Amino acid sequence: MARTASSRPGSSRPASSRPAAARPAPAGAAESALAGHSVELLKALHILTREGQLNQDSRRKLKQIQHLYQFIEPLLRESTPADGVPLTLVDHGAGKSYLGFILYDLFFKQFEQPFKLWSIETRPELIEKSRELARSAGFAGMEFLNLSVAQATTSPLLPERIDVVTALHACNTATDDAIDFALAKRAQHVVLVPCCQAEVAAAFRQGKADALARSSLAELWRHPLHTREFGSQVTNVLRCLRLQAHGYQITVTELVGWEHSMKNELIIATQKHQPGKAAARRLNEMLDTLGLQVLRERFAVPQT
Ligand SMILES: C[S@@+](CC[C@H](N)C(=O)[O-])C[C@H]1O[C@@H](n2cnc3c(N)ncnc32)[C@H](O)[C@@H]1O
Repeated sequence: MARTASSRPGSSRPASSRPAAARPAPAGAAESALAGHSVELLKALHILTREGQLNQDSRRKLKQIQHLYQFIEPLLRESTPADGVPLTLVDHGAGKSYLGFILYDLFFKQFEQPFKLWSIETRPELIEKSRELARSAGFAGMEFLNLSVAQATTSPLLPERIDVVTALHACNTATDDAIDFALAKRAQHVVLVPCCQAEVAAAFRQGKADALARSSLAELWRHPLHTREFGSQVTNVLRCLRLQAHGYQITVTELVGWEHSMKNELIIATQKHQPGKAAARRLNEMLDTLGLQVLRERFAVPQT
């Protein structure tokens, strides 16, 4: 696939000698936004129009992915096994597999060690399309599995260990299933951009009358909009504590390009084998204080 102008191999070939399909995207701002990417891949992903143009929406999408790439690339380098064992990454709730394709194009294609990438997605038509695209792009190290995240955790199609687990806007509790997967696979890094999770908000709704009678803290989720927003905030805090309870170090930050979305939280967890007892205790205390005991299994932590 053609690359846009960059310091990568092949980029010095004069534009006039390239076949039409391999021509780089338009010059100027668009070109710098596309540096290093394969034009044909971006077209196939509908990030670029057939004419190689970026519209406002796709520019934002590209900016988001590039921003995410800045975080993931060092994690990939850091978790590369030294002994020739393949570097492995699983992307859950992959959708059209934008993330996997971009990671492949920008990183894995040039990577000189063995590696393997899997996209997990429940919609078979998206799996089929992604397989076709990977075939035509020659991305032989990518595999697409039509499984739910929960099924993937026990599937014999995946190895026992995975180095990096990602889940970008995986719907509802699929992010929690991705955490289960990462824990089961002893992932070194977990990168999550959570979607809205309805379970905690539902539990708040269910116990609202009791909670309001018990504590003024329940004012935090009295109104339906607050139930949803606070539910979402609590969900992500519990996810972080759960990962910490399992020895991970957590960074929580914001993704650019999602400024107008509530779903712009990026959680990066790195396994450091830290003592997790305090996080486990705090998580359980939170569940008790907020009347969320029913979710103890969802946010399960090691028994002490
Ligand atoms: C909002 S899309 C995000 C797609 C992609 N990660 C992205 O950011 O472009 C969520 C995707 O997760 C898939 N999905 C939802 N629940 C899932 C589950 N339990 N297991 C696997 N995939 C799931 C949906 O079919 C959908 O394609």
